[in-house]
Amino acid sequence: MKKIVAILFIIGSSLRVSATDGMWIPYLLAQLNEAEMREMGMELTADDIYSVNHSSIKDAIVHFGGGCTAELISSKGLLLTNHHCGYSQIQSHSSIEKDYLKNGFWAMNAQEELTNPGLTAAIVKYMKDVTNIAMEGISQSMSVAEKSDLINKNIEALIERETSSSEYEISVSSFFYGNQYILIAKEVFQDVRLVGAPPSSIGKFGADTDNWMWPRHTGDFSIFRVYASKDNKPAEVSEENVPYEPNFHLKVNTAGVQKDDFTMVFGFPGRTQEYLPASEISNTVNKYDPFRVDIRDRILNVLDAKMRVNDETRIQYASKYARISNAWKKWIGEIEGVKATKGIEKKKQLEAEFTKRINANTELKAQYSNVLPVLDSLYNSRSEVYIERYAYIEAIYYGIESMKHMLRYNRFYMLDKSEEEKITEQAAGLASGLPGFYKNYDAALDESVMQSVFPIYLQNLKHYEGSELLKKWKSMSPAELSVAISKAYKKSIIISQAEKWTSLLEENPKKARKVLAKDPLFQLSVACHASFIEELNPIAYHSESQIEELQALYMNALQKAFPERRFYPDANSTLRVSYGKVEGFSPVDGKEYLEQTFLDGVIAKYVPGDYEFDLPAKLVELYENKNYGIYGQDGKMPVCFIASNHTTGGNSGSPAINGKGELIGLNFDRVWEGTMSDINYDASICRNIMVDVRYVLFIVDKFAGAGYLIDEMDLVGAELLSTEE
Ligand code: ARG
Ligand code: GLU
Repeated sequence: MKKIVAILFIIGSSLRVSATDGMWIPYLLAQLNEAEMREMGMELTADDIYSVNHSSIKDAIVHFGGGCTAELISSKGLLLTNHHCGYSQIQSHSSIEKDYLKNGFWAMNAQEELTNPGLTAAIVKYMKDVTNIAMEGISQSMSVAEKSDLINKNIEALIERETSSSEYEISVSSFFYGNQYILIAKEVFQDVRLVGAPPSSIGKFGADTDNWMWPRHTGDFSIFRVYASKDNKPAEVSEENVPYEPNFHLKVNTAGVQKDDFTMVFGFPGRTQEYLPASEISNTVNKYDPFRVDIRDRILNVLDAKMRVNDETRIQYASKYARISNAWKKWIGEIEGVKATKGIEKKKQLEAEFTKRINANTELKAQYSNVLPVLDSLYNSRSEVYIERYAYIEAIYYGIESMKHMLRYNRFYMLDKSEEEKITEQAAGLASGLPGFYKNYDAALDESVMQSVFPIYLQNLKHYEGSELLKKWKSMSPAELSVAISKAYKKSIIISQAEKWTSLLEENPKKARKVLAKDPLFQLSVACHASFIEELNPIAYHSESQIEELQALYMNALQKAFPERRFYPDANSTLRVSYGKVEGFSPVDGKEYLEQTFLDGVIAKYVPGDYEFDLPAKLVELYENKNYGIYGQDGKMPVCFIASNHTTGGNSGSPAINGKGELIGLNFDRVWEGTMSDINYDASICRNIMVDVRYVLFIVDKFAGAGYLIDEMDLVGAELLSTEE
């Protein structure tokens, strides 16, 4: 009996939606979340957050460049996002003489702001449920392919209709595995200028060592400005443009946060999979993650060994290393987190309860009793194909640079002899991209990467019927393979003779095509790519569409089996609200993490000259003089804090907002222990990491001397009453 009670308790607690679980659709807050949010300390109404009838917080939330979030913080279009979100723009304006990555950048007036053609800032104007329109004409007798064809047609027609009567960019996104469709209208601004960025030693302080970690001390922010036409509409980059006047901008709070304060994060989370069955969570953390981690381990080890002893390599590969290590580190955290929280066991208990409830109801039983077992077997049977796919993606696509580089030449190579104009044109385009590639490329290092990971790719390669070349490579002994790789690097003109290859493309495109035809690395890359696209992907997509259909059914069944539970859709890069509290956590038994870090901790990590933990002298001086102005708190300078908001990649740059709707911080990461929140959120250890907005203001004002930006913002908070020294 005791045992039964204990089991029921566990099931009960894993069913109960914790207060912090979820990324919610903003227009449904009144219905689903408002009461709870207010109970947790929010003083706003759902209507203050999202409204299509009057200005609301949503008007200040920006999808930045399609991958990050940013927020408007002044009536003149001032836009705040992460340093790592603005990184490529900051980098693109940098040179040896003006090294903005290293030294930071501050426009001291409008003329000094830097344009970024191609960078967009999109604001959601309205969202509406269009499920009935998307599903029109769908009947149960249709096949999966017929259904999805019809849905796509319906959506296309809908987008066309809506676009013809709208000035906005219209899209339709699928929610709950295609059980719901929502139309989204966005105003997309195209003139977004760089205003300010701290040096990387602040904006990226702690770099890869501290990435995904708490306690954290990074000032991960950069500042842009949105420009519009004179009538305040989106316009291409132009000198005629003027600062955009948003319908709403966030007030900036200088009073700071306290433990247990209500917080919410408003932004564009990219992708989560919260409704996977236990079987697929197990595949993820027991098969896919370890496999991908292992390949990246090898790549990172090869890079690290040379980066440590060679300064040039270190600079060349800093950004590549960061990119490869970001997901690598997240996956390691995901494996550990699922284990530590017994995620799979809990999911299995939930599934047992699900099955019990389904079988207890004749109607549900008829419809859904097979869903879970079939889904399990589909996931399990595709796992081998998935490993083969990951072998390509990790080793060839992310790992061996020469392999990826060669894919650029595919179209050029496929042109017909007679298409002379195109040949010349494409050759010129390809040549113009080469300096960027060679500048950060070390062929010897890349060969070492290939020596390390290509054998693993070959071992896992099973679909290569169409390629004699791959058959040959596959049949080699380890020793032969190693020699063949070395030979290929030596023989490849593209890799080993940069100048010759560049001038061939520039001066003799026809000959360049002949050279390409004989380049061993080009030929190998083409063969690997073809096996991936033509042989492997069709198999993967076939199981994908079956799984998609079953997941939709399972989602449906879950909602019916647990009517007492609120469901939120997985992240899909659409606008969402997450909410929680400022709170620390216990990473392991006996250890407790606090919710706030301070400048003292930055100074404690300071290693002069180190590429991750160096600091600007000016910051150390400000610390020594305790020159914090109105931004400090009890003589200390707050830097970062954590809270229980459910976030994921894409939430970078999202505002952290307090119960009054004021900006208190900028989301930029999650804690390592909790990165499994993408597949299995657990309130006990999942925390998001934010830079405290007071640190942002302090850096802008005291460090950079760009106080005119502060004057533009609306600061609110108790400390403002006290006069500055
Ligand atoms: N982990 C954060 C994210 O997923 C920050 C990444 C950028 N920083 C870094 N050191 N790589 O995007
Ligand atoms: N750094 C992530 C991003 O770029 C946010 C961290 C996360 O994955 O939660 O969106």
